[in-house]
Amino acid sequence: MIAPSILSADFANLARDVAAVRGADWLHVDVMDNHFVPNLTLGAPVVASIKKATDIPLDCHLMIEDPARWAPQYAEIGAKNVTFHAEAADNPLAVAKDIRAAGAGAGLAIKPGTALDPYLDVLSGFDTVLIMSVEPGFGGQKFLPDVLDKVRRLRALKDKGELTVLIEIDGGINRQTIQAAAEAGVDCFVAGSAVYGAEDPEKAVESLRELARLTP
Ligand code: DX5
Ligand code: ZN
Repeated sequence: MIAPSILSADFANLARDVAAVRGADWLHVDVMDNHFVPNLTLGAPVVASIKKATDIPLDCHLMIEDPARWAPQYAEIGAKNVTFHAEAADNPLAVAKDIRAAGAGAGLAIKPGTALDPYLDVLSGFDTVLIMSVEPGFGGQKFLPDVLDKVRRLRALKDKGELTVLIEIDGGINRQTIQAAAEAGVDCFVAGSAVYGAEDPEKAVESLRELARLTP
């Protein structure tokens, strides 16, 4: 699966840029609150407008404090998946439960410096796990290959039937890095600058998907 991140789109032309990635599996929407990360993007009213503008399922990535308070409303808007950060939640399972009750899949995001192990037990209550391969906050950063150890760990657990979550990766995914991530076992690839920085975003999505698929 390829999930273009509209963080790299033109915020004054969101409908146009969303339409430009028609073949995408999910549309990745980065919500930042200027507290959990040092950047501010958009919130629920804009997500509601994007929802009306596209049939592509919305994948909301909440880089915000207090997800227990704010996450369920993105599910109510109709997002397909709502991911919040492990580092921001006191009780991740309770938040996941609320997101699911509001009708979306629940995702747990993990920063590059955060260990996966303490969260393995709660992952049975989640639909997706988002492995960050850059520090959250900005598009266009360099891929951190060390996080692929976490992906391999998750893939091994999935292969043994001990986990069912979708493994998603976010940050620095492009034509040079996607195959390493695919080889480690990623199911869903977020790509911002590699899609919207391309001359033809729709073609960029196709070619990233093809590269991931060709990975042995
Ligand atoms: C960063 C965001 C990413 C960002 C990725 O905090 O979570 O979704 O858009 O951008 P690229 O693909 O350019 O690294
Ligand atoms: Zn993101």
